[in-house]
Amino acid sequence: MNILSIETSCDETAAAVTEYNDGFTSILSNAVSSQTALHTQWGGVVPQLASREHIKNIVPIVHEALKKAGISHENIDLLAVTAGPGLMPALVVGVTAAKTLSFIWNKPLIGIQHLEGHIYANFIGEKSGKLKVKSAEQEVKFPLIALVVSGAHTQLVLMRGHLQYEILGETQDDAVGEAFDKVARMLGLPYPGGPEISRRADTLREQQTPENLKEFTEKFPRPMLGADNYNFSFSGLKTAVLYSLKKENPETLKNENFIASMCHAFQEAAVDVLVGKTKKALSLYSPATFVIAGGVSANVRLRTELRNLIDTEFPDTQFLTPEFTYSLDNAAMIGIAAAYRYERMSDTDRLSLLQSYRTLEPNANMPFQNLV
Ligand code: KG4
Ligand code: ZN
Repeated sequence: MNILSIETSCDETAAAVTEYNDGFTSILSNAVSSQTALHTQWGGVVPQLASREHIKNIVPIVHEALKKAGISHENIDLLAVTAGPGLMPALVVGVTAAKTLSFIWNKPLIGIQHLEGHIYANFIGEKSGKLKVKSAEQEVKFPLIALVVSGAHTQLVLMRGHLQYEILGETQDDAVGEAFDKVARMLGLPYPGGPEISRRADTLREQQTPENLKEFTEKFPRPMLGADNYNFSFSGLKTAVLYSLKKENPETLKNENFIASMCHAFQEAAVDVLVGKTKKALSLYSPATFVIAGGVSANVRLRTELRNLIDTEFPDTQFLTPEFTYSLDNAAMIGIAAAYRYERMSDTDRLSLLQSYRTLEPNANMPFQNLV
């Protein structure tokens, strides 16, 4: 079967075609139209502007996905769309487009939770012409722990089977991606802040010895690292950066080397907390698989430190990471999550998807949906 998926939860308008047969998935196309350049001017995503851009881009991006996949809409068997969580003005565009296509093409439509998509992006295989991965139980071993790190979420999630989610802990205030974006803004760096901060911090680390960087490496607190739970807090860390910047004179604040040092200081503190909390969860649950999910999973320092943790302390745990293309928001991840869901549905439930165009609604705070 062929799945056409749509994603418009934030500032990327995306559509993809996923082929799914006998438990094998191939990504036939993955089209993304990014609005970053527009939102950079405002220092962050403006929901109403995002909505307008989605309206402009949604039809061309669906066309592009079908064209790149080399198939016509008659060969689409299932439609999938991000139903939430996300920005409501942005979600409605994708959901309305998907409902309309479902109605006029008479195809079943499934609503997918965005973070589930990020987690399932880990099961898209290595690049080998087409992207292939076997989507069968023996490929993904459970229990699985996912570290979900995006612009709006920071969670440790336990999965005892496919589509079974238990949130072990989550941020009590800012998400880690949000903290990256806000700290970048304080440092005068453009939106999105994550890649800007990590690029500067990584370059600095290549140029300097750990000894030279020690003062900055240890500059900021590691909030909640010692707390006996799996929750996070990044707002205090953000404030610590702000107070530290207030003490500096205007010339220092413009100094590239100083900015890079602050990027390094912040990134080390944030990564330490994420790795420390992950370690706590892996120690207790000894999962067979550990994955990272969401935009911040593109962070190289985070990937490296998690790899070190797994290699040295949890060698029996399989560590999966999404390909960089599938770390950030995309529709392929929504397609693959839809494939796993559809595979596990009864015939009656599958049939009811033909009526989703009547009832499916976006939900800005959509929780994980456990398969019953
Ligand atoms: O998953 P995502 O694309 O959108 C949401 O679902 O929120 O995540 C976007 C977030 C932004 O906060 C962005 O700054 C962050 O991911 N991000 C990064 C990196 N690349 C993107 N954060 C740290 N390091 C990166 N390399
Ligand atoms: Zn996302």
